[in-house]
Amino acid sequence: MVYRVPMTIYTGYLAIHKFEKELEREFEVRALTVAHKRDRLYLVEGSHPQLIWAQVTAFGLESIKITSINDGARRLKERGRNWALYTVTNHRRAELIQEGLPKIKQRTLPFRHQLPSVPMGFWTLWEEDEMLATQETSSPFGLGAMEFDEDKVMPPSRAYLKLWEFFTVYAPEAIRGGTAIDVGSCPGGWTWVLRMLEFDRVYSVDKAPIEKRIMDLGNIEFRQESAFGLDPGAFGPIDWFCSDIICYPERLLNLVNRFRAAGTVKNFVCTIKYQAETDWEETLKFLEIPGSRIVHLHHNKHEVTWFLKGTNP
Ligand SMILES: C[S@@+](CC[C@H](N)C(=O)[O-])C[C@H]1O[C@@H](n2cnc3c(N)ncnc32)[C@H](O)[C@@H]1O
Repeated sequence: MVYRVPMTIYTGYLAIHKFEKELEREFEVRALTVAHKRDRLYLVEGSHPQLIWAQVTAFGLESIKITSINDGARRLKERGRNWALYTVTNHRRAELIQEGLPKIKQRTLPFRHQLPSVPMGFWTLWEEDEMLATQETSSPFGLGAMEFDEDKVMPPSRAYLKLWEFFTVYAPEAIRGGTAIDVGSCPGGWTWVLRMLEFDRVYSVDKAPIEKRIMDLGNIEFRQESAFGLDPGAFGPIDWFCSDIICYPERLLNLVNRFRAAGTVKNFVCTIKYQAETDWEETLKFLEIPGSRIVHLHHNKHEVTWFLKGTNP
């Protein structure tokens, strides 16, 4: 009788280009031990959750021995249709295997378009004769890269892409109507997105004015003042509290907590921005808020997006 040696199952984390240090720090914060690392790919033994600073997380990576390029392509096709490759070695051989797989048409998406329903696998050629592969990943987009059909005319800044991504991927159910508040709103990209979502009223708050053509969309009440002086009681029920303010995470957390304490906000989505160093201490305090999540959107830079849905009123 032949006994197969049980192979180790890994969780693979692909670090975001230039944010490898953030992912490495996150491993420490979460007490995860990296077993192997090649380029931006980190392997941790066992099953673990998605991490904030991973561009894509590959769950349950399986080791597959192969005898040839055709064998590699065949083994992947047996396991699923769509595969995204990240090469760490034997690059040409890996590309030839990829060429033997169904072509993926990675299209740009309109805002709030339904996400692809076919899973997007992740694979790498770890050694000349060994692939690591899984169909179970954290994103339906190849290596987590989601691109939109950008609007190059209306939005006054590219910051709108963060809110497009958020509402497309993490809050597609967001209902139209109701009230939203956008703090740190100048020049008006997020306010424009909130108007696209057809909120009945959008409060837009910044120390600097938003662009007139955004104001002209109507149903926007602009307040030229510091968001940190706002009285939550002055607004009534708020469906979405949105913040893209440039400030220390601690100040944002205080502001969020004041609005939470008022009990008038249903949903929050806020960008936590960092200076030179990622402020883990404050980031973890955000995560202590029950039911909330932090993600690094494809359109985030050295910042992350914290959100909390379906609270209070
Ligand atoms: C990244 S920009 C926001 C871009 C905006 N979300 C958009 O889509 O166009 C950050 C904004 O935070 C604003 N800001 C900084 N401190 C603020 C404060 N205390 N109160 C309100 N806004 C503030 C800045 O004036 C700046 O316009």
